[in-house]
Amino acid sequence: MTVLVTGGAGYIGSHTCVELLNAGHDIVVIDNFSNSHPEALKRVKEITGKTFHTYSIDILDEDGLARIFTEHEITAVIHFAGLKAVGESVSEPLWYYSNNVIGTILLCEVMKRNGVKNLVFSSSATVYGEPDTVPIPENSLLKTTNPYGRTKYMIEEILRDIHFADPEWSIALLRYFNPIGAHESGKIGEAPQGTPNNLLPYISQVAVGKLGELKVYGDDYQTHDGTGVRDYIHVIDLSLGHVKALEKVKSSKGVHTYNLGTGRGYSVLEMVKAFEKASGREISYTILGRRPGDIPVCFADTSKAFEELGWRAEREINKMCEDTWRWQRRNPEGYTSIETEKQTSLEKEPTKFFVTHKQEKVLNE
Ligand code: NAD
Ligand code: WQD
Repeated sequence: MTVLVTGGAGYIGSHTCVELLNAGHDIVVIDNFSNSHPEALKRVKEITGKTFHTYSIDILDEDGLARIFTEHEITAVIHFAGLKAVGESVSEPLWYYSNNVIGTILLCEVMKRNGVKNLVFSSSATVYGEPDTVPIPENSLLKTTNPYGRTKYMIEEILRDIHFADPEWSIALLRYFNPIGAHESGKIGEAPQGTPNNLLPYISQVAVGKLGELKVYGDDYQTHDGTGVRDYIHVIDLSLGHVKALEKVKSSKGVHTYNLGTGRGYSVLEMVKAFEKASGREISYTILGRRPGDIPVCFADTSKAFEELGWRAEREINKMCEDTWRWQRRNPEGYTSIETEKQTSLEKEPTKFFVTHKQEKVLNE
């Protein structure tokens, strides 16, 4: 089938593109590159030896989106495009609601007009807020605590309403826990802009010498070592979950909600130890107070995804750290070391990288 991947140049999107291509699907990628680099998609092509169309388009550009559906026979959409920084969402709520919520509404409008009603959506464990119990099952109370989380909650509700109004829609709501790791080739991985907010990118930048020391936010939680516990999942396992979810939406109409996690929690200090082992580098850290808004413990009940999708995460914590480290070591500046190269190419071939029209295809050769 031909799958439109929004936000396909991003961290999870690029890894999912690899697994979709490996599974024999055709893909069309759109991204506005606001938090990613076209180089990621070049590398997806290198890894898979397959080609696909990429468009530099914003999902808020309804006409641009519409033209994609005219140019390609899209069967299903996997919708990653969105802004994801919790702190930024608190200071810039309108930007987050506009980009994430309105963007999704416009995407669904265009899908509806084109009779495409299969959708896999990137939701988040953030919709559970501070859970009453762990492991967290999908039917837990939803109580988000920040604008980013509310965009995910609102979109979930909107998608449920769309299916209620027209049961021909088939939708998977995938609630990711904490994705880490990278493709084992070391060619693609997480490349945050600026100082990372999340734990693993921060640790790996300390290991590679870009950052001085890790700040551990709180050691007085009710956990075995006092630091926060999370369910870290390898991005490849997560990507394979999308391939399974796609099969599900194609074979069974409805709104299907799944946790994508491992079902196991690790503390901040356990992650530090695991990364030290994987990298052979010491990770120096200092203990600070709790980060506002953080919860003590979060891990998934993954039984529903296993029973209904036949999916479970296979890659354990050492593998997650080893793959993160390979990516970080080989790409200490993420994809931005390509900037110099890109600048040189721009001087030589101005049209190759310059998107003069929102719909111009990039990187298709
Ligand atoms: P990412 O920022 O690496 O990828 C998102 C991609 O969407 C980027 O390439 C960005 O340029 C693009 N994008 C953003 N707004 C766009 C717009 N208006 N039009 C077109 N493209 C746009 O993030 P990620 O970690 O790969 O996350 C993918 C999705 O999964 C997001 O929706 C995110 O909220 C969700 N999610 C991520 C995590 C996580 O910890 N990484 C956890 C749960 C859910
Ligand atoms: C993990 C643990 C921190 C950084 C966030 C979003 C969530 C989801 C995933 C998208 C916590 C501690 C962290 C650091 C630290 N994103 N920590 N020092 O907070 O579980 O989830 O990303 O949907 O919505 O809220 O992940 O990686 O930021 O933190 O001590 O420099 O590491 O306190 O205990 P989190 P995280």
